[in-house]
Order: sequence, then structure tokens, then C-alpha cells
Amino acid sequence: MGLLSKDIKTLDDLFVHGLQDIYYAEQQITKALPQMISKASDPQLKQAFESHLGETKQQIQMLEQVFRMHGQEAKGVTCPAIDGIIDEAQDIAGEVEDSQVLDAALLSAAQAVEHYEITRYGTLTAWAKQLGRQDCAQILHQIMEQEKATDEKLNRIAESKVNVRAA
Ligand SMILES: [Fe+2]
Ligand SMILES: [Fe+2]
Repeated sequence: MGLLSKDIKTLDDLFVHGLQDIYYAEQQITKALPQMISKASDPQLKQAFESHLGETKQQIQMLEQVFRMHGQEAKGVTCPAIDGIIDEAQDIAGEVEDSQVLDAALLSAAQAVEHYEITRYGTLTAWAKQLGRQDCAQILHQIMEQEKATDEKLNRIAESKVNVRAA
């Protein structure tokens, strides 16, 4: 963690730290998704990853806007949680040979990422509101809704075919 816990004294400090954490996470996701796109076989899954890569790049800009609105420089702090989720995804993907089972593995890894993002954006939205930053809360909520929509889309792809074919 770039910011030692002793440096976090107020809810505002916590909020800024949370922004830095998710800013780093979104950047790592942007680096991981192209690999997942190239490994996915199902065209719909590939397409879902591709469209979320575009969305993720926009989210990075939206976060930069939140930093600006809050008078903070946009910077990331290492987030061990997202690093762990991505590492695990890469480990599993490297071990699966069957392309249909690999799709199921990639899809589940992507859903773990989305769930992580949903919890972080949920908290950040609540803190922004508490801090009287309705403007920041609105953007953070909007990003959370994109993550939720992605998770639901992945659910539909999993249940309608990817899991079925992997079985
Ligand atoms: Fe995201
Ligand atoms: Fe996401």
C-alpha cells in the first residue's frame, strides 16, 4: 500500500486512498484484458471482453475526473487484491488446455474482477455521498452500474453456453 495506514486519518483520506486503489486496479485490468481476449474462443465472450476493455479505458478517464473534482492528483497505489485476482486468473488459464473449459475459467476470472470492482465502487459511492461529494458519487455510481451490467452479461454467457459446453 502506497499510503501507510497511519497516514489515513479521516474519511476523506480513506476516500482518496480508495480512489488510488481502484485507479491502479483499472490500469491492471486494462493490461490483463487483451490477454484474455486472445485466449477466449467463444465469439460472444471475446466480444464481451473487448467491449469491457473499451469501457475500462473510459472508466480510467472518469476516475481522473473524480480526482480533479476532489482537488487530488490522479495516481494509483498498488492494490494487492486485484493483483491476486489477476495472478490467479493467469495461473488457471495457463493450466487449462481444453478451449471450452478455458472459456469457463476466463469467464469466472472476469466475474471475480467485476465483483471486486462492484464492492469498491459501492463503498466509494457511499463515502463520496457522506463527504458531501454528490458530484463524485454520481460518476462512481455510474461506473459501478457498468461493472454490474458486465457481470450480468457474463452471467448470461456462462449459463446459456460457456458452462454448458465446458461440461
Ligand atoms: Fe472497471
Ligand atoms: Fe470491470
